[in-house]
Amino acid sequence: MRRYLNVAIFLVACVALLAQSAGAQEKAVDAEGHPWWQHAVFYEIYPRSFADSNNDGVGDLNGITSKLDYLKTLGVDAMWITPCFPSPQVDFGYDVSDYEALDPMYGTLADFDKLSAEAKKRNIRVILDFVVNHTSDQHKWFLDSKSSRASAHRDWYIWRDGKADGQPPNNWLSTFGLSAWKYDPTTKQYYYHYFYPEQPDLNWRNPAVEKAMFDTTRFWYKRGVSGFRLDAVDTLFEDPALKDNPIVPGKDKFGRPNMDEKYNKKLPEVHTALKGLRKVADEYNAVLIGETWTSDVSQLKEYYGDHNDELQLPMDLLLNGLPFSAGTYRKHVQAMDSAGGWPVYVITNHDITRSYTRYADGRHNDEIAKLMAAFYLTLRGTAIMYYGEELGMENNDPKSRDDVQDPVGKLSWPADKGRDGERTPMQWTDGKNAGFTEGKPWLPVPPSARTHNVATEEKDPHSILETYRSLLALRHHQPALIEGDYDSLNNDDANVLAYLRSYKNESILVVLNFSNKTQETKLDVPAAGYISLLSSGAKLGPDGYKTIFLEPFGFYLARLRK
Ligand code: NOJ
Repeated sequence: MRRYLNVAIFLVACVALLAQSAGAQEKAVDAEGHPWWQHAVFYEIYPRSFADSNNDGVGDLNGITSKLDYLKTLGVDAMWITPCFPSPQVDFGYDVSDYEALDPMYGTLADFDKLSAEAKKRNIRVILDFVVNHTSDQHKWFLDSKSSRASAHRDWYIWRDGKADGQPPNNWLSTFGLSAWKYDPTTKQYYYHYFYPEQPDLNWRNPAVEKAMFDTTRFWYKRGVSGFRLDAVDTLFEDPALKDNPIVPGKDKFGRPNMDEKYNKKLPEVHTALKGLRKVADEYNAVLIGETWTSDVSQLKEYYGDHNDELQLPMDLLLNGLPFSAGTYRKHVQAMDSAGGWPVYVITNHDITRSYTRYADGRHNDEIAKLMAAFYLTLRGTAIMYYGEELGMENNDPKSRDDVQDPVGKLSWPADKGRDGERTPMQWTDGKNAGFTEGKPWLPVPPSARTHNVATEEKDPHSILETYRSLLALRHHQPALIEGDYDSLNNDDANVLAYLRSYKNESILVVLNFSNKTQETKLDVPAAGYISLLSSGAKLGPDGYKTIFLEPFGFYLARLRK
């Protein structure tokens, strides 16, 4: 079907607008006094899978350095690199055996410094992933801790006697399957691990642990890092009396009875630890992003701290789980927007099925990917992207249990195939291994890499990649998208989500068709003038933006002058 108002036309309009408004916008942002992270676009890089400079099949830091110009032209301000520290790689880096070095598989500290310096030249900040809840069982702290009950690091982890009948200390379960307790025959006690047995939980009640962790952040801040994404913050503390968790109805994906994890998750002490980490971050003007899985917006709000003294950017991990519909999204954005914190929208990451696959309907997959981008990248707040999202990379789940790399996938197969599918190599070209490596990639590239890759999409002004580029350019240069208030329009419309982002005498109008049918939307929004900015599958009526015809999953963006 003909795309009436195509992306290419609006790109031309955008370039003109950018030139016109860039200077004023920079000033407005400074004058408003907003910190850098509120307007930055963050981009998550899974280093194993981004770019492989030495062709060993696994990505590395020099690979990332070689792709900085790509990130710059995409419009990224900060990259969050998932753990690249020395690690036995049981949980692909989330089992850290030394917090102040790099895994040789990824490079050296000198490579890191080079990456940092080159990123800085392009105004791209580096955010590292800090695994605060646990270390690897090969970390020297744990090796000492397990060596004897009297060791200097014994109390750095959570050790307890088992029950008299030979059972573990209580009924807590590891989120990765099995019990959360592992018996150690040397010292005849159990240690606690919320994740794999190779990831023993640190004892944050011990001030020496707290100090060591705070010092780790200082080490990296001094090396130029602009902040951390804090892993699994809700599991930092456990009930010291080790009370059993209540069993609740239903079974989990491993077939175990569900439990209410009230004694080993989201304990109030978490907030004390976050305040401490924030104090250190503030000394360096750094940002703390949180992996904050919550059940609702009010729970999420707690992570900002009563005095905005905890996480600046607790991730909204609720949006990605909502049913795809204008109505649910409208309700959620309204709730986030009125909650008082600065929203942090994320639609996909390395632990969940890629957004492209999750939302695909088999017929309009690319249109839906563009629509989702036009939605979450125009909201008030900070956006965190995941590598390859901008290409429409899809999940490539293992075909058999033997192919699975993620241990969780082996344990829960076939109910859950693990997380390999969302961690496959970045798709740079339509050539061998999608241009990721000359070697054997650690995970296979899906057939869709032939069409969904950087080189191919760069040539097509209607591609998902070019739509992301246009959206990010608008997001950086339109004051209303940076500063603007959010106001929902046409609240009864079940198919089309429409809103204004307004700042001073301008508004950005966003109209999004979340249905697979053509929609006609009438808007009663007065304006002295308007200019269409970007669209996909949209056509205006004779009265201009006041009547918009949207093809299935089409969208339309305009700038209105009051
Ligand atoms: C959350 C991380 O995102 C995930 O990949 C990891 O397995 C767990 N935390 C444990 O560190």
